[in-house]
Parts: sequence; structure tokens; C-alpha cells
Amino acid sequence: MCGIVGYIGTQAATEILLSGLEKLEYRGYDSAGIATIWEGEVNCVRAKGKLYNLRSKLEQVETPSQIGIGHTRWATHGKPEVYNAHPHMDGAMRIAVVVNGIIENYSELREELKHKGYQFLSETDVEVIPHLIAEFFKHPPSVSPFCPSLLLEAVRDTVHKLRGAFAIALISADYPDELIVVRQQAPMVIGFGQGEFFCASDTPAIISHTRAVLPLDNKELARLTPLGVEVYNFAGERLRKQPRLLNLNPMMVEKQGFKHFMLKEIYEQPGVVRACLDAYFNADWNVGDSTNSPVKLGLPEEIYANLEQIQIVACGTSWHAALVGKYLIEQLAGIPTQVHYASEYRYAPSPLTPNTLTIGVTQSGETADTLAALAMEKERRQDKEPKYQARLLGITNRPESTLGHMVSQIINTLAGIEIGVAATKTFIAQLMAFYALALDLAYLRNSISSIKLQEIIDGLRQIPGEIEATLEKQEDSIGQLAHEFAETQDFIFLGRGINFPIALEGALKLKEISYIHAEGYPAGEMKHGPIALLDAKVPVVAIAMPGSVYEKVISNAQEAKARDSRLIGVTPLSQGEAAEIFNDFIPVSKVDELLSPILTVIPLQLLAYHIAALRGLDVDQPRNLAKSVTVE
Ligand code: F6R
Repeated sequence: MCGIVGYIGTQAATEILLSGLEKLEYRGYDSAGIATIWEGEVNCVRAKGKLYNLRSKLEQVETPSQIGIGHTRWATHGKPEVYNAHPHMDGAMRIAVVVNGIIENYSELREELKHKGYQFLSETDVEVIPHLIAEFFKHPPSVSPFCPSLLLEAVRDTVHKLRGAFAIALISADYPDELIVVRQQAPMVIGFGQGEFFCASDTPAIISHTRAVLPLDNKELARLTPLGVEVYNFAGERLRKQPRLLNLNPMMVEKQGFKHFMLKEIYEQPGVVRACLDAYFNADWNVGDSTNSPVKLGLPEEIYANLEQIQIVACGTSWHAALVGKYLIEQLAGIPTQVHYASEYRYAPSPLTPNTLTIGVTQSGETADTLAALAMEKERRQDKEPKYQARLLGITNRPESTLGHMVSQIINTLAGIEIGVAATKTFIAQLMAFYALALDLAYLRNSISSIKLQEIIDGLRQIPGEIEATLEKQEDSIGQLAHEFAETQDFIFLGRGINFPIALEGALKLKEISYIHAEGYPAGEMKHGPIALLDAKVPVVAIAMPGSVYEKVISNAQEAKARDSRLIGVTPLSQGEAAEIFNDFIPVSKVDELLSPILTVIPLQLLAYHIAALRGLDVDQPRNLAKSVTVE
């Protein structure tokens, strides 16, 4: 949520900043801006809306400056207008600041600064920062002769006055060879080039320039100059840190011939499932093998020992994956599991229970609600007797994220970087992580037979091929079917049992990228109210996979049909009863009901994609959304 990029070196900064911002636009696209230093002045250009507006504004005012910062915004405080766009500056226009995150105590700081005569030009929380820095320079305290830079000192002094979760990058016309960056619970990485240095909220912004990166830790700040990078903690102590090499190539953040990132990412899913199978399951294990474990998550004994309960916190699509996870853990391993919206849990946590594992699921590893819920859980269990102490596990696609720093154990979901704002391949990878976790627990607790375990793992190994078949056979027909719904205003998605979360996910995908109102319901719940919505204008998508609830779903679909709804069946069965009731079919292969969510979600992603694309919408960057939601 909000993207920051910064550059200092020997090349012209503007194009580097703009191309970096293009790669970060998924984090927010309400407005954008850059500031550079040229001929002793800060040159700040900002534009409302997408980055191309900024690009065209810059055509008239571009400078050959070799230092600069850029920002792409997802509005929190203040409307998405130019005057609220970053960078924000001090009154003398000497300091320019970009921020990702929220300054919680901004209104009291703003009042104090107003009393001192500072004028505010925006509604944002961020504008206090350049004024606080200006205030430092107005009354500079005596600093040690060893202080490396007064600008660094001013920023260090300022961050002590700020509360909240934020990352900052700033430059000053009076210190034209310094770029200062700060991390306080919002991501910030530094990139090391040859005589040039970068900073960014996320690595795709700098990967085409360097693979050597150093993610800052919380409460750290860094000074980037053309000569190098110095890292300090908030106490002002110099830290010795080494960059590491990223395992990411620039191609991974290109569309590679697909019209949209979302479509490319849908097509990457068979590969993602294969990567997870290789990483999570032991290829050598078989039913008779008592020396090896079938699952190789590598989680330590203290996570599993005497486990009585599991609670999962997550948001959005990750919350849907958690619901599938709950089903698997309860049905396979027999461990009571609760799933909470992270944003709710923080303010109404469940009573403390002994021997409880708390799992945070977040593809980005940066979702503020999920991180706050985990932090709260950790804190309230501190100093309790051992059986109440926190056991935390993260499921994330970004082990280097804030979540990765916060919890001691991670399941890395191996989906590769996801650029489309609507989650697709990261969801599939989260499902795979839950299959592995549930099977590991089931194996350790002996709650299912080895034969059943082998059957499930063998079934999982077939899934990549089944996804490929679905993509190959169904993409065109789903594309055709989408034409029928380009003007539709409401959709209902029904599923039961393990496919209920997939109905929720199908509805979420459709609403977030096509702006069509859509609801997902457990099929049996429809008659308790939502059925009143149904008529010939409201199509119903029913996920009807053979298994324990197939007949029930068919009966619930009949109820919708009786209200004139057009019925779309996601099912392998096009004969018999199904043939009579469904108006349209989206065939999927027949797989074990327990494994079916990994397959049934694929056509729903495609349906949402094609409807949104037909409506001419910005599939990869839907309005009002951002890829990582780093504010609560
Ligand atoms: C939906 C979507 C969001 C995210 C949610 C949580 O397509 O992407 O609902 O799932 O914002 O994000 P993470 O998983 O990064 O915590």
C-alpha cells in the first residue's frame, strides 16, 4: 500500500524512478509524484491518477538530476488529489518526503507545528515530517563531531516523535548527495549497484538494476550517498550489514505475452502446485516407510507438541484459504480450528486457550491487520505459564517480509512474485501449504491411515495436470460464456463443505475486478434469506463436485432454478440430474472432493477475469484496491 522508490548515483534519476514506480503501481495508484534535486533546488512533480499522468507532466519538466525519490499512493488520509500526492515538502521547499504507512499521532503534531507557524497544504498525515525536519534545522541541537550527517540526525530526531507503522525516503536540496530512508514496520529494501544505490518498498522496483539487496529491519534508518550505504538503528548506532542476492529475475515481473498479469498468474498455477509438491512432500516416502515422514515442512517440535487448538488470522483471499485450511485440519487431523478476520480478532480476541497454535496467513507478509493480530496474540500470551505461551506460524509468499521477521516459523508458499492485485496463484499456494500442514499433523497424530495419506498425496500429484487440462479446455468457452454476463449486475456463488470458501473466493474475484456485486454463500444457507434476491436477472454459480454434499448442492441449485435464476454448474458431471438443471456448464475433472478446491477455483478465476476484461476494466489494478494493505 503506497510504493516508494529512490535513487542516488550517476545516471539520470527520473526514468529510473518512473520505471521503478511502474513496478510498484500494484501497491496503490491514486496519485504519483517524484522529487529530484537540480541546481540547488528540489524539483517536485505530482499528478492525480495513474502513473502515465505523472509521466506526461514530467515531459515538460524533466531534469538530468542524479538523485530522487518517487511515490505511488493509495489514499489513506485525504482524497486522491494532487495536493495530497507525495512527495510532501517543508515551507521553504528544501526537503521532500515520501511515506508508506500511517503516522498515527499526526493530528497532535500538526497542531503543535501550526502553533509554531507552520502552514499545511495537504490533508495528509505525512506533511508533518518535512516540517519536523525543518524545525530541527531551525534549532539544531549540538551534535557530536562524529555525527555523520546533520540530515540523518534530523531524521533520527523526527522518527522519535512519530507513532505508527511507516517507511520513509527523503532528500534535501541542502544535502544533495544524501538520500535517507527509514523503516518502522513497513517494508524498505536498499539496492546496491555499481556507484549507485536504490531504495524501494518492494524488490520488483529495482530488480532490473541490481539483485544485491538489503532489507532494512524495524527501527533502522540508512544514509545512501554516491559512495555507499550506512545503516543505523534509531539510537544512532552504526550497524554492519551485508546485502544478499535476490533469487528473482526481471522476466518474472513482465507480462511475457499475456494481456494481463492476472491471466499470466492464472496460467502459472500448475507450476506453483508442482513447486509446492516438491518442497512440501517427500518424494521417497511410501506407505511402508516408517523412517521418513511424508511431509517435509521442517517445523520444529515446539509448534506441534501437545497441540490442542489452532487459530488462524487472515484477510481477504488469505482468509478464504484459511477456511479451506480449517476444513482440512479438522477433518484430517482432528484439531479444533478457528478462523478469524484479522481486523476483528485484534479487538475481540478469543479467550486464551492452552497449547494453541496461531497461524497468520498473508501472501504479502505486510497486511497490517494480520500483523497487528499476531503481535497482539504474542503480547497477551507473554509472561503466561508455558502452556499458554504463543506459538506462531506464518504462511506467506514473502518470507523476507515483516511477517517473516515477526514469527519464528514460516511456510513459504513458493508462488513467485504476484503482480496482479487480485490474488490467484498465491491463493493456490496457500491451499497447498494447508494440505501439507494438515497431512503433517494427521501423520504425526495417526489420525488417518498411511494408505489414505498416500492416496491424498498421490491425488495432489495429479492436480497440476488437471489444472493444465482445465486451462486448455475451458479458457475459450469461459471467455465465450463471459459475454453473457458483461452487463449483469448481481451474481450469487454457492458451494458447500470444502467448496464453500471457493464460492466466497469466486465472488470476491468477480467483485474486485469486474465491480459486479457478487455474494458467496454456503448453498444450504441460501434458503434462509438470500433466496429473496433471486430472479431471472441474478445468475447463480454452483460448485457441485461429487462427494458428501453433491446431492445437497444440486437440491439447493434446484431452489435457485425454481426462482428463474440462470444456473452455471462448476462440475465434472454433465449427465443425469446436473444436465437437467444447469443452464451452463463449466466442466472440471473429477477429483477427490477433498482436493477439489485447488481445481474448482481455476474456472472461477477465469470467469472473473474474462468478464472484467470484456467490460474493459483495469484487471491488474482495480479501482480503490492495493496489493499489500499496510494500514489498519
Ligand atoms: C483479493 C486480495 C485481497 C488480499 C488481502 C490480504 O484478491 O488480494 O483480498 O487477499 O488484502 O492480503 P495478504 O494475503 O497479502 O495478507
